[in-house]
Amino acid sequence: MNFLDELVLPQSSHHMELLKYLLVLTYLIFIPYLSLLIGTNIIAIFYNKKASSNSDSAAYKFAKDVIDLVTFNRSVTIGFGVVPLISAAFCYAQLLHLSPVNVSGYLFIAAILFVIGSIFLYSYKNSFHLRDILKAASGSGNLDDRLKTDINNMSEKTEIAYNKFGNYSLFFLLLTALVFVGSVKLASDSTRWEHVESIVGVVFSIGTIVNFVYFVTLSLFTTACAVLFYYFRPNNEFGETSNDIKEIAKNSALNTGLVSSIILPLLLLLNIFVVPGLGLTAGIFALFIFLMLIVVICASFFYNMLKNSNTRYSGSIVFLLIIFFVLAVIKDQMAFDTSSQKQFIALVENYEEYQRQVAEELGIGGTVISGEEIYNGRCVACHQFEQKLVGPPHKDVLPKYEGNLPGLVAYILNPVKVDPNYPPMPAQGLKPAEAQAVAEYIVNVYEEQYK
Ligand code: HEC
Repeated sequence: MNFLDELVLPQSSHHMELLKYLLVLTYLIFIPYLSLLIGTNIIAIFYNKKASSNSDSAAYKFAKDVIDLVTFNRSVTIGFGVVPLISAAFCYAQLLHLSPVNVSGYLFIAAILFVIGSIFLYSYKNSFHLRDILKAASGSGNLDDRLKTDINNMSEKTEIAYNKFGNYSLFFLLLTALVFVGSVKLASDSTRWEHVESIVGVVFSIGTIVNFVYFVTLSLFTTACAVLFYYFRPNNEFGETSNDIKEIAKNSALNTGLVSSIILPLLLLLNIFVVPGLGLTAGIFALFIFLMLIVVICASFFYNMLKNSNTRYSGSIVFLLIIFFVLAVIKDQMAFDTSSQKQFIALVENYEEYQRQVAEELGIGGTVISGEEIYNGRCVACHQFEQKLVGPPHKDVLPKYEGNLPGLVAYILNPVKVDPNYPPMPAQGLKPAEAQAVAEYIVNVYEEQYK
């Protein structure tokens, strides 16, 4: 994203630390949220199909509930989905500035895919509701025939549309996850930065595919935990929910939860092997072990609940899930950190260079060149103001240069033979700014004391 690169200002290492924390924060919001959207979308489509094949009204209501669970408010979708993605893109634009890789551009693409996906998801949700309204309307007695056919036509169209919307939204949300996972993976693998030039390279790498499967499994796991908590948390307001729906919710959550929490550790293991060697430190390895432990504990909770047909660990499981997300995000960030050390050193150097430039442009900072110091270091061996040493006294020669400071500077920089009574003055190897300073100094002293 070239325009982003232009917006980027070189950052000090403190700012970069801050940006890394910001990244952790955005991931902590975005990853669970996208997981929930994908998981509920899959579950809703599944139960919807089930409902229409054996006209099971409880399954249908469950599908509707599950979709409503995460799509209650559009601004939440923007705040938890679009905003974090775009902030992450900006963070990467800063952190990977001057590197050959364009992670922020890919994250922008992910943000666009996410917007499309969530628009379809909301259409899916709305068509659920519209469908019910139309059904209720066609059932009411006193309607004229034309209105009735209208309603029936609309019902058919809604039916078709709503099946499509569900599939489209799932497609785009999965695509978002794929691009997102690929970008994060790419960012934490500096060995690939040189080679990845397009979105195709981001998506088609073994690391990305493994991580994507992991993400989808994690989505199902997260959603299972959320559904369990939603219906069965202590003192919930769903005491009224019909037992049919609760039964479906329980079966769905426990089975999905158990299966996904058995697969997750395997994917985590696989993940260890596709993490770039550069990024796998002892700390990251320890986090992997922790993550696996958490999932295994969850799996045993799910198994226990399934066996005893109860839901008593619903609270603990959500608690473990939150810890899981925090550790997983920290792990990713650590991998990124380790693998991009070189990049950060380059950025810090770039920052120092930038500061020098700014200081120079503004005429502040930098090393102050003192004419007096140079004079005392370089000139006193051969010159005094009033007496002749190796060279002539300044008092005698400076009147020549009155009003001609550039001429004096030029002489000091590059002495030429002047007076046959003296040997030639050797060049002093000064930089222009130093010659300027020393010239100003001797002129000042001369004007103040000897004129
Ligand atoms: C190694 C001895 C030596 C040093 C060191 C030296 N000078 Fe000289 N300087 C001379 C001599 C000898 C002359 C006379 C050269 C001539 O007339 O051709 C001279 C001449 C000059 C003149 C007169 C030029 C003119 O147009 O007549 C100036 C001004 C001057 N020096 C400034 C400096 C300054 C400033 C420094 C320190 C940065 C310095 N010199 C360091 C030996 C030295």
